[in-house]
This record gives sequence, structure tokens and C-alpha cells, in this order.
Amino acid sequence: MKNIGWLALWWHHFFLLWSTIDGQTRYSIPEELKQGSVVGNLAKDLGLALSEIFDRRLRVASQTGEQYFSVDAGKGELVVNDRIDREALCGQSASCVLPLQIVLEKPLNLHRIEVEIKDMNDNSPSFQTKELSLKIAESAAVGTRFVLESAEDADVGSNSVKSYTLTKNECFTLKMKEVEDGKAVPELVLEKPLDREKKAVHQLLLTALDGGNPVLSGTSQITITVLDNNDNFPVFEKNNYKVSLQENTAKNTFVVKIAATDADEGPNGEVEFSFGSRTPDSVLSVFEINPLTGEIHLKGDLDYEKASSYKIEITARDKGFPEMESHCRLQIDIVDVNDNTPEIVLTSEPQPVREDAASGTVVALLNARDADSGNNSKVTLRVPKGSPFTLKPSFSNNYALVTSGPLDRESFPEYNIEITATDSGTPPLSSKKVIPVTITDVNDNAPVFTQKTYNVYLKENGVPGSILYSVSASDLDFGENAKVSYSILDSKVQDVSVSSYVYINSDNGSIYSMHSFDYEKLKVFQIQVQAKDQGSPSLSSNATVHVFILDQNDNAPAVIYPSSAAMGSLSHQRMPRSAKAGHLVTKVTAVDADSGHNAWISYRVAEATDASLFTVNLYTGEVRTKRAVSEQDDSSQRLLIEIKDDGEPIQSSTVTVSIILEDGLHEPILDLRHKVAEPSKKTGRITLYLILSLASVSVLSLLTFLILAVKCIRNSSSSSTCCMRRTDSDDYKNPNRNLQIQLNTDGPIKYVEVLGGDMLSQSQSFRSCMSPMSEYSDFTLIKPSSTTDFKEVISVLDASLPDSTWTFESQQGSSPSPIHTQHPKQLYCNELGDFGYLPWIKIL
Ligand SMILES: *[C@@H]1O[C@H](CO)[C@@H](O)[C@H](O)[C@H]1NC(C)=O
Ligand SMILES: *[C@@H]1O[C@H](CO)[C@@H](O)[C@H](O)[C@H]1NC(C)=O
Ligand SMILES: *[C@@H]1O[C@H](CO)[C@@H](O)[C@H](O)[C@H]1NC(C)=O
Repeated sequence: MKNIGWLALWWHHFFLLWSTIDGQTRYSIPEELKQGSVVGNLAKDLGLALSEIFDRRLRVASQTGEQYFSVDAGKGELVVNDRIDREALCGQSASCVLPLQIVLEKPLNLHRIEVEIKDMNDNSPSFQTKELSLKIAESAAVGTRFVLESAEDADVGSNSVKSYTLTKNECFTLKMKEVEDGKAVPELVLEKPLDREKKAVHQLLLTALDGGNPVLSGTSQITITVLDNNDNFPVFEKNNYKVSLQENTAKNTFVVKIAATDADEGPNGEVEFSFGSRTPDSVLSVFEINPLTGEIHLKGDLDYEKASSYKIEITARDKGFPEMESHCRLQIDIVDVNDNTPEIVLTSEPQPVREDAASGTVVALLNARDADSGNNSKVTLRVPKGSPFTLKPSFSNNYALVTSGPLDRESFPEYNIEITATDSGTPPLSSKKVIPVTITDVNDNAPVFTQKTYNVYLKENGVPGSILYSVSASDLDFGENAKVSYSILDSKVQDVSVSSYVYINSDNGSIYSMHSFDYEKLKVFQIQVQAKDQGSPSLSSNATVHVFILDQNDNAPAVIYPSSAAMGSLSHQRMPRSAKAGHLVTKVTAVDADSGHNAWISYRVAEATDASLFTVNLYTGEVRTKRAVSEQDDSSQRLLIEIKDDGEPIQSSTVTVSIILEDGLHEPILDLRHKVAEPSKKTGRITLYLILSLASVSVLSLLTFLILAVKCIRNSSSSSTCCMRRTDSDDYKNPNRNLQIQLNTDGPIKYVEVLGGDMLSQSQSFRSCMSPMSEYSDFTLIKPSSTTDFKEVISVLDASLPDSTWTFESQQGSSPSPIHTQHPKQLYCNELGDFGYLPWIKIL
């Protein structure tokens, strides 16, 4: 349809032109005509008949003419043979005329015609670079011009480029700049400062328009890249960062990530992080920052006690030029962890304490510390239970270690007080400290003898100056307080000061005799020994040493009867010749000052005029006839009687008895039995008195007891008297407490010596008489009691015997039972023998 329009237009022009041609034939056609389009009627214009066209072979001769045009032989018309592009043929020249040679043959005739090619607006303006890239600095000043490429249009004249337009934008406008030969070049003018951060790329479309009708256009895409200028600071996400870290956080732990952005691009927007320039080493050694990521990691060890909080300045810097930086603050708070054990510090060294120090005496001052804070540093101290020390708190964790109970150096000379400090953290930490405390001695212990009483058995006739015994006392105290010296307390022995008998080595307690002792004069005595320490004030204690002198056989038997024999002269006894066998002639009686075996006397006939007539009773010394006297017997008989004791060595003496046999003498001169009966009566009387006095004493005791009992019942709450009774019975059970029994035996029991008495009272000594010789000696039972009590006495006897060869069964059958069961507190000795006296024994 468009072509048809074009064609119609063309025909109109053609006829208009045709009419104006004169002279040389000239055609004018627009370019780009269709093939076959008629340019002009050659036949007519050359004045040729139609027949001639064929016959004369009318044709286009010139080469270019041949290409574009041909002659229609039928009609004689010049037609377009090929596409005609004015721009191709004539370029940018304003007029475009094609000269054509038309050849006619027969006759050969040459015509010259011209075909003017007229421009049609068939080319649009075009840019050489369809997409133009421009880089403009962000900092470019307003008004700066940027020359653009101008568009080309193949068409000429008004069909060529006439104007330019630019897409609307706020930053740029388009201005035309005249250049030489009247051409104009488009220029971009910066109207407003660029901001890459707002718009980094501007896309513009430059359109070139031609003057044709219709108007054709060509475009060029202009891409303006705004070049970044480092005009932005890095911006932190937050101005203040705040984090908390546990004190015990491990190394390399991530702490926080700092983030910052820079609106610039490229290096201008590349942010690098660092710690501020004035960051102290204490921070640098603990934290590190990754410059690229902004991550902060822990690099060192945290210690709340050194730094509880870090305030760090962080710098973010871009890589532009000049570089831009900004800062933020990072606060890292350290949370305390209970990582410090409490500590006990002695503020004053422990002082030695006297063992008698009052409760509350200060021993040492100490201080409890914990480097942590808050509850982690709250320290409690503990002293082990049962120790006589306690802690007295004073101001701010200071304590005084004070005594809180009785001390005794003798039991604990030194204490190592282990004090435990515990904090209140979770879990709590604790530590211990041992505080050595020395207890100094106070003289609070008296010397103690190894025994309360010592029994020493000493043979008589010893060498003076020999060691009698060694006592020893120990003192639990220390040093001078334990240094014991011994002394003998003055007392009287047989009206002589004891110090004339013995002396003591004050250093070691050895007691020396100063005399030889005579058993016959002194049988027992006691020494009060005192041990005294050197303390101030000094303490002392006493012990009693009982010295028993042991009998030695140092006395020969002495004859008492016949008395004249005692003088060493002859004793004359008379007897009737009519005496039967067994007639008692006389009785020889001797005594021995010694005791025991040493005093056990036996009689025997050593020599006799007629050995078959008389005999002497071995034990009694009774001289009796063996047979009836006969008429042949000499009237004067002599007997040499040897009296021996049983000591070691045996001591003996002799007595000569001369007997005169008389006729007609009937009455025995001696009635020993009668003689003996008298003292028996006397003794009976004494017994009666004794029983009477015993009865009265018993009544008195009973009364006293009753009164005490009544008192005791009245104040039953605090009955000291009752208690005393118990103590009494204790004593009773320990009959050996103050009882010493001395027994000399060798074969049959001859005598028992009982020593009794309380320590302070004068000891009592007596002898019981069990000589088998004596048919009268006996203990009399006062109050029969159980035999067990007696057995205790026996066991005591046994224990205290110097040589325990003694057995209770060893008595001879002929001997009367010598010991009867006794009331334990009272023994009664009824003695008719030679030594009988001291009827009462009180065993306490
Ligand atoms: C410290 O300990 C006490 C008692 O156990 C408790 O009441 C208090 O809350 C604690 N204080 C802290 C800061 O943990
Ligand atoms: C005590 O000292 C004397 C003299 O130095 C010495 O003979 C005696 O054996 C000593 N006694 C003891 C028990 O050491
Ligand atoms: C020791 O005996 C003496 C003299 O009898 C006396 O003064 C002293 O108090 C006694 N000491 C003790 C501890 O019994």
C-alpha cells in the first residue's frame, strides 16, 4: 500500500518534470524505484517511431546505464532495470545525475540523456557506537561537558541528521556544539553533582533525528558509570558494643563481631578493622581483631582480678585515598569466676602459750583473703572441732586465734592447728594452713614416786654406807620444772633423828645406810622421802620407805632355866629313885634373841653319865626318865644338854644338869602343869577384860555409826559420810594396803610376823606365836567369818614373803592349827609362850 502511494506520487512528479524538459533529454527519478518502473518514453522524446525502436535496435550503451536501465523495445520506454541507491551511486554529493548513452543502429546514432536520481529519505541517522560507555568521576564539577559522537545519515539535505534528543534525567542535559563546516556535535552537560552512592550508573538514550518526512531516527545507548570518590566514612552497625565474658573463657574463643559498612565502592568501600591507636598493651595482649571480618577473639588469659572490664576503641578504615575512618566503642565486662583459692596470711607469728593461759589468750593474728570478688571472695575460716583454739573475728577478715579451752603441755606439747578457709563461690574453693603453736611448761605437776610406799628388807649387821635402796620420782613437766631432787624429811626413830640412820643422794634418790642395824634393837622404821622439783613455785611429793631389818642368826640361845645354869654353873636337880619311866625331872628353857628359825630352839642330850636313863624332849626341853631307875644306877647323874637354834650358821649353847637320885623322895618338886595353869587363869582374866572392853567399844562404835547414819539420811543429797563408808569398804577389799606380814619359814611354820598400821601413824609390830613347841599358843577366834577373807590375807602373805617357799599346808600335824579365820579387821593373839604380848592387831 505504501509503495502504491509512493508510485502515485512519483508519476505526478514525472509528468511535471517531463513538461519542463527542453533541449537535452533529461529524466529525473527518485532512487529506489522498482524494477520495471518507467523512467521516460525514449521513442517519443527522441522522436522515433515505434517500429524504428525495434528495427534500429534502440539500446542503452554505457556500462552503468546498462546496469540500471534498459529500453522496453515494445513501447520505447526507458525502464529501471536494477535497484538504484542514490547513496551508493553518489554518496553524500548533493546532486546525483547518471549520464546515459542511447545507441541507434541503421544508421548508427548516439543520443545522450541524463537521469537525475533524486534523494529519498531512506536512511535513518545512525551512531557508530550503538552503546557508548562513559566514566565520570563522582567529583566532576557541575557544567562539565562531555562530547558525544554525532550520528551519521546517508541521506543528504534535509534528509540528513537534523537534531538530537536525550532521555530525560536530572543530572545531564544535551547541548550542541558547533564545529567547523557548520556541523554540530552533541555534548552532555553535567547539571547536578553526581553521587555514586545514590546512583552509580546512569543510562541515557541519545536519539538523532533527520529532517526527512517522515522523520527517521537513530539511537545510541549511553551508559554513564559514576566513578567512586572516597567520600563516605565506614559506618558501624552500633556505636557501642557491650559483651560479657566469663573469666575462665578459653583462648581463641570468639568474643564479638564488629560490623561496619562503607557506602563507597572498591577499595573506598573496603573496610579494615583495628584497635584504636591508643589501645594499651594490656588489651592487645588479650584480644585480637580480624581486620577483614571484624571478629574479635580472645588471645590471652582473662583475669577478673587484674581487669574486670575492658573499654576498647575500634577503628574501621577504608582503603580509599585519602582513607576515611570511624570509631566505635567496645566494652567487654569480665564476669568473675571463683578461680582464686582463699588464702590465710599470718599477720603475726604464733606465740608460744603457757599451758595455764586463760581462755581467750591471743596466740596469733591472721587474715583471710580471696582475690575473687563478691561471694567468691567471702571467706569463712574453720578450726578443727575439739581443738582448744578458736577464731575471734575482728574487722574486715582479720581474725585472732585465741585459746578456748584448757591446755596441758604434758598431753599436747605442741598443736598444729589446721585452719581451713572456704569461700562462698560455687563450687567453693578452700585452702588450709597449719599454725604451729607451742605450749610452754608451767610447773603444774608434782614429782611422782614410782610407788607410794617402798618396802626395803635389810639384813641386820650390814656394812654402814651401803646403798639401802634407790627411790625414784618422775616429773611430767619440762626442764627445771621436771628436775627432781630428793631429800629425807626429818622424823624420829627410837628418839633419834632418822637422818642419823640414813642419808639420800639428792640427785638420784639412792638411800644409804649410816649404821649397821641390829634386828634385836630395831626391827622396822620408816623414812619419809620427799621429791621436789626446781620449778617456781616448786612442787613436791612424799613417799614412805619402810625398812624392815631382817634377822640374822647372831645370837646364841640363852638358857633361862635352870637359872643357875644360866650363870654357867651346875644346876642340881633331885629326883626319887622310885620314879617310873617318863618321870619329868626338869625342864630346860632357853631363849634366842633372834627370831624365826634363828630362834627355833631344839634340845638334845650331848653327854650323859648314863645315856639310857634320861631323855630330853627335842622341842620342850623337858628332861624325863626313859626307864625306871634301878638300884644300880649312880645316884649322881650328869647331863650335858646342847641347845641349838635353827639359824644359819647354827648357834648353840650347852647347859649341864646334874641330877641326884634320892631314896624315899616321893613328891615331885616341880609341877610345871600347875605353874603353867596360873598364867592360864591370868590370861583367862585378861581375856574377860578384853571381851568387856571390846563390847564397850562395839557399843560406842554402834552409837557413832547410828548418829552418822541419821546425819547421812538427813542430807542425803551431799552425804560425804556415806561416801566415806564406801571408801572404807574399798580398803577392806584391799587388805594388803597397809598390812605387812613377815614370815620366816623353813619347814614347819614357826611364826608369823604381822606388821600393820597406817602410813602416818606409828606402825605396829607384833608377833604371833605358832611354835610347834608350844602347846598353848593359839589365835583365838573372836568373830568367825568367811574363809575367803582369810585367803586374801594368805595371798598377801604369799606376796610379801621375801622367799616364798611357804605353803599353808606345810604345817606339821603335831602343830595346832596356827591361824584361824579372823574377822578381817581384828586379830586377837592369845599367847602364852615366851614372846606372847601385844594381843590386838588392827589392820586398817
Ligand atoms: C551471695 O550469697 C548469698 C547467700 O548465699 C546470696 O543470698 C546472694 O544472692 C549471693 N550474691 C550473689 C551476687 O550471688
Ligand atoms: C646415785 O649416784 C651415786 C653416786 O654417783 C651412785 O653410786 C649410785 O649408784 C647412783 N644411784 C642410781 C640409782 O643411779
Ligand atoms: C610431805 O611431808 C611434809 C612433812 O610431813 C609435809 O609438810 C608436806 O606437806 C608433805 N607433802 C605432801 C605433798 O604431802
